[in-house]
Amino acid sequence: MLRRPRRNRRSAAIRGLVQEQHLTAGHLVQPLFLVQGTQVREEIPSLPNTFRLSIDEILKEVEECMPLGLRSFMMFPAVPEHLKDKTATYSYDPQNFYLSAAAQIKQQFPECCLISDVAMDPYSSDGHDGIVEDGQILNDESLPILARMAVAQAEAGFDVIGPSDMMDGRVRAIREALDDAGHTNTGIMSYTAKYASAFYGPFRDALDSAPKAGDKKTYQMDPSNRREALIEGELDTEEGADFLMVKPAIHYLDVIRELKSNFELPIAAYHVSGECAMLQAACRNGWLDYEKAMPEALLSIRRAGADVIITYFAKDFARLGNFF
Ligand code: PBG
Repeated sequence: MLRRPRRNRRSAAIRGLVQEQHLTAGHLVQPLFLVQGTQVREEIPSLPNTFRLSIDEILKEVEECMPLGLRSFMMFPAVPEHLKDKTATYSYDPQNFYLSAAAQIKQQFPECCLISDVAMDPYSSDGHDGIVEDGQILNDESLPILARMAVAQAEAGFDVIGPSDMMDGRVRAIREALDDAGHTNTGIMSYTAKYASAFYGPFRDALDSAPKAGDKKTYQMDPSNRREALIEGELDTEEGADFLMVKPAIHYLDVIRELKSNFELPIAAYHVSGECAMLQAACRNGWLDYEKAMPEALLSIRRAGADVIITYFAKDFARLGNFF
């Protein structure tokens, strides 16, 4: 035998020399669920070890993560039902607790990267990402609302805007609105290939944001499609996105690779709530070893081509130290 691949696996030192992928806390983004009030820390039943937090608790969380090298956060609001309406007006209300929370986080931790969520669903009485009229999700009519929401978020201090709504043309609408308002340095992490997935369940439980009627299939992508992700990637690139995101991650590794091979922009992957919940469920039953299976899952997303991984396991990974 002239070729023996095992020679390069003989010792930890040699394996270290030939290791292809590295994953550190610096590649990860920790999602945070914000609720109104103070001293609130409620565990999400379908996503153990993830909590709905009031701003004081979120500040503690950020303070714990920063020294671990985990410096990026994506925040989502759980909005009380009485503040929701058909056109998501609360999303840009000056009294909005999500916007004031962002301002407080950036004031205390100016060096963190804070990423927003732009979509109407947390604020919409219909639970959809755009305006609903006669059962249809209106595209063009939703764009000015999304753009206004994005400008309010940039004003509050978010570093990066995260449009997760999947309306056509929203990246351009948001980019232009940000630039017009003078926020030329605020970035856009676009949910480029966001699929109509069953794996968002625990997230919708956390925010109580499930659609009141129908599903999201007329705007989120069909799970059977890969080439269509290239169309979305091309549009988001042209429209001015700074990151292209694939969501979910573990079940869409091929799509991550496809975008990585075809675009120069950094690729983000959202390891979504249901994907984290299933791994945790197996670990809690003693069927998998969390400290080994969790980093391996994240590594697989990285190997597929993700530069950035948004995962509910970010803090746990950072605590384990740089595993890979
Ligand atoms: C809202 C939004 C969703 C997620 C992120 N932003 C839910 C949805 O589209 O229904 C899901 C994230 C997760 O499951 O972890 N537009």
